[in-house]
Amino acid sequence: MKQKLLECFAQQFGGEGEIRTYFAPGRVNLIGEHTDYNGGHVFPCALTIGTYMAARKREDRKLRFYSMNFEKLGVVESSLDDFQMGKENNWTAYPKGMMWTFGKKGYPVEQGMDIVLFGNIPNGSGLSSSASVEVVTGVMLRDMFGYDQLTNTDLALFGQYSENNYNGVNCGIMDQFAVAMGKKDCAIFLDTSNLSFEYAPVKLENARIVIASSNKKRGLGDSKYNERRSECETALAELQTVSSIHSLGELTTEAFEQIQSAIKDPVRVKRARHAVAENQRTVEAVKALKANDIKKFGQLMNESHVSLRDDYEVTGIELDTLVEEAWKCPGVIGSRMTGAGFGGCTVSIVENDAIDGFIEKVGTAYKEKIGYAADFYVVDIGPGAGVLA
Ligand code: GLA
Repeated sequence: MKQKLLECFAQQFGGEGEIRTYFAPGRVNLIGEHTDYNGGHVFPCALTIGTYMAARKREDRKLRFYSMNFEKLGVVESSLDDFQMGKENNWTAYPKGMMWTFGKKGYPVEQGMDIVLFGNIPNGSGLSSSASVEVVTGVMLRDMFGYDQLTNTDLALFGQYSENNYNGVNCGIMDQFAVAMGKKDCAIFLDTSNLSFEYAPVKLENARIVIASSNKKRGLGDSKYNERRSECETALAELQTVSSIHSLGELTTEAFEQIQSAIKDPVRVKRARHAVAENQRTVEAVKALKANDIKKFGQLMNESHVSLRDDYEVTGIELDTLVEEAWKCPGVIGSRMTGAGFGGCTVSIVENDAIDGFIEKVGTAYKEKIGYAADFYVVDIGPGAGVLA
């Protein structure tokens, strides 16, 4: 991959001078959905697919970007004096957002750059291609400008800041954290209330992680995301009139039931109930995994989907079809939507000798019902972002 990237760089921008290369993965969340902005736990892992970047400093303040995924766009030219928050109209919004964020946080980027990108995360699939671009840019800027004091956690926080403030999506910390901090064959059990975390080995014995992409074009998704977030904030404020909690993640299901009548709207009760129960499930699921109880882990994944479908209402017919068909297949240990929802992907744990049948069966049923095909990926868990060796 590095070779391909460097060849492309030489073709677009010339091969002279010091060109450095970097990688950041995509991520899949195993359980703990829509908990990261509610002070709860998440359990994502980094994938071996991701975003590759080659970069070289310039003597002026120009920025030249080329993506091997958007060849038709050609070289996109910009400059360090031209940050247009919320108004960028192509993928360069993500690297530019990070450069802008570095400046905001006291790590100025004072020299222009030529940059080539290549990503093998399926586009817009909900496997965090944007967080991957943000974090790979962060790793590049840290290296190029000698900001060695920045940790990967700092880069994750910069990525989230950039997404929130430059790109206008009010996301939590999960995606950028998973991308920056991933570890081979481990998922990250992260407490988003204080960013303390633990790596948990994902030992699935005779099973693997299979991702199914619904290929649904996301439209309203981002605005619905922000809507869910504010519903939770309102519910929290209502609960705070009767309780001294700081976040929904502090509540057990029982404690929630005792005070839920403080929430004035039944829809908001459902939203908050999901946030509370999903956090509890995530804690339970990690316990089960540590005890090698994969079956229990799978059951909790299934319950997570039901809650996201009925209480949080972020699934939709595409994700529901993929998951409900998966549940019917032999050898499926657990299956749920993953990521923000409204399209995107599902994640399933499937026994090795059932994988082919699973893809065949779910794929056929999906196409029949939805009218277009889903894509399937059997994935591996890889390390987090860094300089390419
Ligand atoms: C998106 C956001 C994350 C998280 C998930 C839902 O991926 O970027 O911060 O909220 O949705 O769990």
